[in-house]
Amino acid sequence: MEVKTSLLDNMIGVGDMVLLEPLSEDTFLENLKNRFDHNEIYTYIGSVVISINPYRSLPIYTPEKVEEYRNRNFYELSPHIYALADEAYRSLRDQDKDQCILITGESGAGKTEASKLVMSYVAAVCGKGQEVNKVKEQLLQSNPVLEAFGNAKTVRNDNSSRFGKYMDIEFDFKGDPLGGVISNYLLEKSRVVKQPRGERNFHIFYQLLSGASDDTMKKLKLDRDFSKYNYLSLDSAVVSGLDDAANFRTVRNAMQIVGFMEDEMLSVLELVAAVLKLGNIEFKPESRCNGIDESRVKDKNDLKEMCELLGTEQSVLERAFSYRTVEAKMEKVSTTLNVAQAYYARDALAKNLYSRLFSWLITRINESIRAQAKTRHKVMGVLDIYGFEIFEDNSFEQFIINYCNEKLQQIFIELTLREEQEEYVREGIEWTNIEYFNNAIICDLIENNQNGILAMLDEECLRPGTVTDETFLDKLNTICAEHQHFESRLSKSSKFLTDHSLPHNCFRIQHYAGKVLYRVEGFVDKNNDLLYRDLSQAMYKANHSLIKQLFPEGNPAKVNLKRPPTAGFQFKASVGTLMSNLQTKNPNYIRCVKPNDKKASHIFTDSLVRHQVHYLGLMENVRVRRAGYAFRQAYEPCLERYKMLCKKTWPHWRGPAREGVEVLLTDLQVPTEEFAYGRSKIFIRNPRTLFFLEEKRKRCLEDLATLIQKIYRGWKCRSQFLLLKKSQIVVAAWYRRYAQQKKYQKIKRATTVVQSYARGWQARKLLRELKYQKKCEQAVTTISAYWHGTQARMELRRLKQEVRNKHAVTVIWAYWQGTKARRELRRLKEEARRKHAVAVIWAYWQGLKVRREYRKFFRANAGKKIYNFTIQRIMQKYFLDLKRNMPSMSPIDKSWPARPYLFLEGVHTELKRIFHLWRCKKYRSQFTEDKKAVYEEKLKASELFKDKKALYPSSVSQPFKGDYLEISKNPKYQKLNNAVDEKVLLADVVNKINRANGKGSPRLLLLTRRSVILADQKTGQVKASVPLADLASVSVSTQMDGFFALKLKEGSASAVKGDFLLSSDHLIEIITKLHRISASAAEREPINVDISDEFLVQFKHDKVCVKFIQGSPKNGNSASCKRKNNRLLEVSVPTSP
Ligand SMILES: Nc1ncnc2c1ncn2[C@@H]1O[C@H](COP(=O)(O)OP(=O)(O)OP(=O)(O)O)[C@@H](O)[C@H]1O
Ligand SMILES: [Mg+2]
Repeated sequence: MEVKTSLLDNMIGVGDMVLLEPLSEDTFLENLKNRFDHNEIYTYIGSVVISINPYRSLPIYTPEKVEEYRNRNFYELSPHIYALADEAYRSLRDQDKDQCILITGESGAGKTEASKLVMSYVAAVCGKGQEVNKVKEQLLQSNPVLEAFGNAKTVRNDNSSRFGKYMDIEFDFKGDPLGGVISNYLLEKSRVVKQPRGERNFHIFYQLLSGASDDTMKKLKLDRDFSKYNYLSLDSAVVSGLDDAANFRTVRNAMQIVGFMEDEMLSVLELVAAVLKLGNIEFKPESRCNGIDESRVKDKNDLKEMCELLGTEQSVLERAFSYRTVEAKMEKVSTTLNVAQAYYARDALAKNLYSRLFSWLITRINESIRAQAKTRHKVMGVLDIYGFEIFEDNSFEQFIINYCNEKLQQIFIELTLREEQEEYVREGIEWTNIEYFNNAIICDLIENNQNGILAMLDEECLRPGTVTDETFLDKLNTICAEHQHFESRLSKSSKFLTDHSLPHNCFRIQHYAGKVLYRVEGFVDKNNDLLYRDLSQAMYKANHSLIKQLFPEGNPAKVNLKRPPTAGFQFKASVGTLMSNLQTKNPNYIRCVKPNDKKASHIFTDSLVRHQVHYLGLMENVRVRRAGYAFRQAYEPCLERYKMLCKKTWPHWRGPAREGVEVLLTDLQVPTEEFAYGRSKIFIRNPRTLFFLEEKRKRCLEDLATLIQKIYRGWKCRSQFLLLKKSQIVVAAWYRRYAQQKKYQKIKRATTVVQSYARGWQARKLLRELKYQKKCEQAVTTISAYWHGTQARMELRRLKQEVRNKHAVTVIWAYWQGTKARRELRRLKEEARRKHAVAVIWAYWQGLKVRREYRKFFRANAGKKIYNFTIQRIMQKYFLDLKRNMPSMSPIDKSWPARPYLFLEGVHTELKRIFHLWRCKKYRSQFTEDKKAVYEEKLKASELFKDKKALYPSSVSQPFKGDYLEISKNPKYQKLNNAVDEKVLLADVVNKINRANGKGSPRLLLLTRRSVILADQKTGQVKASVPLADLASVSVSTQMDGFFALKLKEGSASAVKGDFLLSSDHLIEIITKLHRISASAAEREPINVDISDEFLVQFKHDKVCVKFIQGSPKNGNSASCKRKNNRLLEVSVPTSP
């Protein structure tokens, strides 16, 4: 809910002076002071804003403040300049009324600041957008530029406006700014050449010297030292709190935003520099022979630099400072200027240069900010004119300034009273006229066309003959003497004859703001504002675009002999235009008051403020406002504010607002003389009545607050209860839902289980049926597969038989073909051999024939001899070397000297072979017959067993002894020896293996050339004698054992008893000898020696397999034989060490 506030809320003192009770000058001042002390610098008199300069920055211009005042009624919030700006802007936008903001007050009262605040507020609240923002920015940024060129430090104000400014801001129908037009009023140009004590020249001079870059300074030929320039006063060149360098940057930036080109900015600065240079030009007198004084430029350096800056010819300007040409009726008269006149001419040029530059700046800014659209605009004018001034020494400028202020005061008086009067008439309220001081009489004294001071001055200036300031004063003394606001020592009115405060060369005017003493000196000159034509022509000739524009009258083609209008005349005219312009607009007043003369914050000098209150007519203003009624308000807001005071109007009044207010006031028993009903407003005569209403309202509001509180609490409790009730229902509903959901889910699960069982049973039944069906199908398939298989195999057999038959035929055919081919091959080979033999014999025969035939042609051939000799020598050497390097005679020595020549390859190898054979022969020839036989046996053993039987390597080193029993010598074997009629080649003890248990029983084994004999070891009785012819083969294992089987030929006589399985330590020797003997017999094949780990032995009727396995060492080092079953004897042989 929007909180409605009022300026009456939290008020310090009285926000609107109309409500001041009792009203007197003292209470008025007291109220102002009270508010000022509490930082309330704004106070209203009705719709007029009094603004007291705080001389310090207050936090009341923030964007939040702008928002606070935006679209609020004037009296809604505490007094503020923003409230006035908002009121003006809204009536412009909503009611289509052109507005003007008139800001008045004496110098330093804060007019310029107030105008800037109004502009910034309007800029903040009006429309937004890229184009609109640019316009706003340009309008705002025109201020720093104009302040730099048009403001200066004075004794009253560090930033005193030295020109009057009126700015029309133009808006479209929506209230968006379109542009603006600035008008300026009479720049105080005398300041350019001379400043009063404690004051400065225009800011721009100091800003330029302090803030310009070194580059710019060089371009402008300037020096930063202020003391180098005559036109700059030094005693207050530096102002505390004023940063000239920073301000220069701000100005440049502002010029850029407003739309100045870079070269335009430079041109402007060149002119400023030229003015400074101009001030430094000095003159010296020079007497001519005709006795007339002339002047010459003293030091031409400054003149030269200035001419360079402006692009003028030095000689032309120099001449313009020395001569003056007067043209009259086609006649030109040239007169020389003396030193004083030269200085006058120089200063006149400087002033004109600067003031014209200033006017050009305003024209240029206007070009940039002028609204483009040609539609009708709404206009808000802001007037910030120089304030009323009373200096010690007041001249023509002060006269003009104060005249302007008089005019503004008059318009204030007129418009304020008229507005007030009109309102009463409009509202149908009875009105009695109020007395107030009307300054029209003073305005008349100055501006009257017949006998006004300005008219007198113009008359004097235009008059032929000698015209001086004194003659002007004389004239005034005669014409204005009777005027009650004019005072002069020499006037006819004798009352001032003895007034010593009034010097002879002065006159005094009683302005509305006080008496001001004007010194007439300079009035005529300043009003004439003459610039010698030579100078304006010299300027026109300058090669500088800007200068040419500033001095158009210097154009010789447009020589105008008419005098230009005087300064006073121009000013009066422009003020007249301004006044009529203002009268067409709705005025809004800001009355600025200066609290002290020290530019200090927190000081409120009563006398000074009292004086201002007095001359500004503020008391009259309040009185006029109160003479009728102190307070007025439209019916609607009034009823809205006080309706709670009456039961009939509270809380709603359902009729016209006026009737509501009537009912309200009657109900409150307000005396009828205290108020009057206007057409749209209620008028309250006495502030007391208003305060009574306010007091009642305040109390009523408290009661209402309690009531509201009560209702609110009740409502809150009920809402809370309803909420709880609603919540309980919601919770219950949710719980029930939850419980039902649970129950439902349980049933659903049970259903699913039952369903699944039933479905399972059905499915299984179906499955069984399907399986049976499938099995039947499979059986059919199997039977048919078997049937087809039988069929296929039969077919296959048939096909195979066919193929086999075919193959047999092919093989027989191939053998037959092979036999044929081999026969053919043999035949062909035989044939080839014969052919070869024939060819060889033929070749030999041919060779022989050829040799015989050709021998006679060759004599003894030396070459061949040499060749033979060389070959012989080589051979000789080769053989000698060979002899020297012969290898040893050992047959196992493999070394042989290297071959010296490639052609000896065959010989060398052959020799090696021959030598080896010879060496072996030699070696063999050493052996005896016996030894030879032994070696032959060893060799045989090697052939039979090497790499075949593991026992062999251990037998190599054992000599074959043959007769181990020494049978012929041992008497024990006498009988046995006798029984054997042949020579025993070997006699040894062997073990005969019993097939029943595999155990061995010792036997004597004898070997002769014809048979193998086995005899009892103890008795020597022959057990078996096997002729060698009956032996088919001998079987041995591959291992370390000494077992061997003598296998008999099937069908032989010896075979009846079966084969012999024996074992011996001299197995290798026995078998070798057996083999040699059998081999030496011519009629027989040698006995086969089978070496295998598994062989069959025929024992009588059975064949038993003897198997050799690798045994473990537990059997000891000898092999052991075990019978495994009827058909198997297992010999386990320990692994070789
Ligand atoms: N509202 C304000 N808040 C803070 N300081 C202010 C305010 N108004 C004025 N001042 C101070 O007072 C000084 C003078 O104000 P300003 O230049 O507006 O006076 P003026 O009435 O325009 O004088 P003049 O007639 O000489 O131009 C300002 O430079 C500023 O320091
Ligand atoms: Mg100002």
